[in-house]
Amino acid sequence: MIRIEGISKSFGTNKAVDAISFEANEKEILVLLGTSGCGKTTTLKMINRLIEPDSGNIFIDGKNIRDQKPEELRKSIGFVMQHAGLFPHYSVAQNIAIVPNLLNWEKQKIQNRTLELLEKLHLTEDLLKVFPHELSGGQQQRIGIARALIADTPVLLMDEPFGALDTITRSAIHNEFKNLDELKNKTTILVTHDVVEAFELGHRICLMDKGQLIQMGSPAEILYHPANSFVKDFFSGNRLMLEYKIAPVKLVESFLLKPLSLKAQQQLIKEANIWETLQVLGTEKNYNEDYEALLQAFNQYRKLQTA
Ligand SMILES: Nc1ncnc2c1ncn2[C@@H]1O[C@H](COP(=O)(O)OP(=O)(O)OP(=O)(O)O)[C@@H](O)[C@H]1O
Ligand SMILES: [Mg+2]
Repeated sequence: MIRIEGISKSFGTNKAVDAISFEANEKEILVLLGTSGCGKTTTLKMINRLIEPDSGNIFIDGKNIRDQKPEELRKSIGFVMQHAGLFPHYSVAQNIAIVPNLLNWEKQKIQNRTLELLEKLHLTEDLLKVFPHELSGGQQQRIGIARALIADTPVLLMDEPFGALDTITRSAIHNEFKNLDELKNKTTILVTHDVVEAFELGHRICLMDKGQLIQMGSPAEILYHPANSFVKDFFSGNRLMLEYKIAPVKLVESFLLKPLSLKAQQQLIKEANIWETLQVLGTEKNYNEDYEALLQAFNQYRKLQTA
């Protein structure tokens, strides 16, 4: 568990981070969301002491990180830098093996684990020999993610890890990423400026502005109970899509006036949200009635959320 207590950081007269406090729990993906320059990267870098705060404290599992040597601290933290941050003169294999080498892992163990991660991240083995400049932006980012995951650290910090991927690839990788075994027992803090990404990945979201934390909560809390007009406006452009994405089909189903057709029921994915479900049903004429019924049920469900 990570506890941030009133940390601040200025660069000259610019208050990049202004008295921020929050906690990230075990097994949680906590998203830091905000527009460019609001202090996300600075906040993240203070957690592994790449930047030292001017004031405030950070505790990981109850221990103040000031009392640990930065090199020791970083052995327990996987870090994905904004723009991948691979070492240009190291091959992909060497980049991935940096932390395992520091930890004196055996060669075979490093190789097995590397191959396992490449497969999970949809990268091919032949990439291991090449150098970062020979990779696409999206490939570099996925290698950066592999490097951060390999040592199975209890804490994972990720700065815009999917920034170089196009929207379609991104949505597909989100689902897989969220369900990776590697994430199950970690505390993950992920930075993004992408509202949809924040909602697809975050168990909870910290919305930041001008160095300050404006609101923290689950996607539903933040969307249906915004703390002020800034929060409300921040999501207004994507509002309906976000509402669809956080509404579980299971809950919405209980608002149906009559059950969906059997065929439509067979199409439903249990854990899906309404967004995904409407997309499946919307592709076929046969499901017109079911589609309309589900939309109606969603509107009932929605009324209850905003009440
Ligand atoms: N090393 C530095 N020296 C001076 N100013 C800095 C430095 N690093 C960050 N800043 C300033 O601090 C503020 C916050 O920067 P930060 O990189 O944390 O923002 P960010 O939210 O990560 O933005 P982005 O989405 O563009 O990555 C910005 O005004 C930035 O110009
Ligand atoms: Mg940044």
